[in-house]
Order: sequence, then C-alpha cells, then structure tokens
Amino acid sequence: MKTYTNVKDLGNLENAVKEALEIKKNRYAYKHLGENKTCLMVFFNNSLRTRLSTQKAAMNLGMNTIVLDVNQGAWKLETERGVIMDGDKTEHLLEAIPVMGCYADVIGVRAFAQFESKTFDYEETILNQFIKYSGKPVFSMEAATAHPLQAFADLITIEEYKRTARPKVVLTWAPHPKALPQAVPNSFADFMNEADVDFVITHPEGYELDEKFVRGAKIEYDQRKAFAGADFIYAKNWSAYQDPNYGKILSKDRSWTVDSEKMALTDNAYFMHCLPVRRNMIVTDDVIESPQSIVIPEAANREISAQTVLKRILENL
Ligand code: CP
Repeated sequence: MKTYTNVKDLGNLENAVKEALEIKKNRYAYKHLGENKTCLMVFFNNSLRTRLSTQKAAMNLGMNTIVLDVNQGAWKLETERGVIMDGDKTEHLLEAIPVMGCYADVIGVRAFAQFESKTFDYEETILNQFIKYSGKPVFSMEAATAHPLQAFADLITIEEYKRTARPKVVLTWAPHPKALPQAVPNSFADFMNEADVDFVITHPEGYELDEKFVRGAKIEYDQRKAFAGADFIYAKNWSAYQDPNYGKILSKDRSWTVDSEKMALTDNAYFMHCLPVRRNMIVTDDVIESPQSIVIPEAANREISAQTVLKRILENL
C-alpha cells in the first residue's frame, strides 16, 4: 500500500478485516517492520483518538513518531498556489511538504474541510499536495471528504459485534450546534457499501450526501421507519453537501436525537458514534451509557485500523 485515502486502498475488504482481527490478537508481532522508520503525523485540526491511536499503532510496529500541530508552533502555512504572500502566512505548503518528507518515512495528514470552497474541499487539495510533493507514503487521518481510518475501525467493530450474517446498519443524521464536515458519513457509507450489510441512511431532506459515497444506498427520510429492525445505529451529524447550502446547518431539530424510545424500535441495536459526541444533541445520556453502546470498543479499534494500514505501508517501503 502506498497511500491510504479510501476503502479501495484496502483491496479485498473481507481480507483486510481478517488481517486486522489477527493483528488485534497479537499487536506486537510485527515490531521489526518499523525499526528505524519514522511516522510523521501532521495535524491541521484537533484530535484525541486519531492522535493517540495512530501513535500507539506506529509504536506497536516499532516506529518512531513525530507529531506536528501545524497551528501550534509551526509557521502559519499558505495552501493556495499563486497567492501573494504579504499577509500573516509565513511559509507555503509547497516548500513545507517536501521538507517534512525529508524527516519521515510515512506521513499521516489531518486536514478537515474548510467550507470556503466546495471544490477546494472535494478535490482534497491539501491531502493531495502531500501525496504529490512529500515523496513519501501518505495516509489520511481525516481529510476534507473522508475519514477512512474511522470507517475501517467501524467495520471491524461491526464484524466483532454482529449477531447475524448480514446485519441491518443504519447511518442516522443527528443535530449539532456547529457545521461539521461530511467526512465521517461519507467514509462510513463508502465502507458499508462494500461490506456485506443491509445499509440504510436516514436524514432530514436537504442533507443528501455526495452520490460518489452513497452509491445508491437506501435513503429513508423517516428516522423511525429506518430504525425498525436495525442491528446497528450509527449516529453522526453533518452539514449540507448540496449546493447552494454546502457547509451550512439547515436544521438543529432535536426530534432527530437518538433516544431510548427510538432505540426500542430496533432489534436491540448497538449504538455507535465516532466520538467526540455532543450528549443530548446527538444521543441521550441513557443511550450512550446503555449496555448497547459500543462507542468505547469502537474507539479502541482505531488502534487496530491504523496498525493494519501502517503495517501494509511498511511492508511496501
Ligand atoms: N473519531 C475521531 O477521529 O476522533 P478525533 O477527532 O478525536 O481524532
């Protein structure tokens, strides 16, 4: 593997999940692969899980790790080519990226959607500049349009908890006070469309995601109907994707909050969320604290998804 930006980079998904579950049983078995290799993790945005789990995964593989918070201590970076740099940005990404490549064997990048230009975001301008100019394998730690390490961890978790061969998995929009990117729901849809699950997406009208990720998956605008008989409820907020509302909040309707009354419509479904989660906006306290909530094992599997990806990259260095 040379880059990891979407589900296709994993090849056969069933094999990838099997490999991840093997790694989970003995996570130090490949420590030799990362000897004298450095994983640089570049964050343009905040993180708790991605930062810790990816660093842990790299250490499990014997790698050294460097974490750079671009907005805390590094020079302020210009990302657009052709700009006259007479403002507060000191360095251009086009120099910074190859310099970072000098100090790393593998580079992870977190660069969220900025909501200033849909084209800039959906062309994955920042991530693709790292891929083009660093000279090193690059993996996404959540880019503008996708969060494939999260979705891989989500699929591993569903595989571990499923009670039927082909579970019903429901991705539900839920309200949030801030405009959030579509990266997590995009990648979740991308992975579920490749997995052997009965996949349904529910959201208010106006929150339709990019068809590139939805790929004809069933959309049910009635959240209660969508929940009926579900085995997994995956809650997430996202802002509008469709023009002219790209990046905007269209609703904060708390009747979409996942609560115990709606969970009772399911087939005793497990509750999932990528975290961080706004309690009593996205999900009520009683649901997230219930025995059916698997948000912590889901977060724990971030270490395993990252380790599987890093192992595959190291095997191809
Ligand atoms: N789920 C996730 O990516 O968490 P962080 O934003 O804390 O890394």
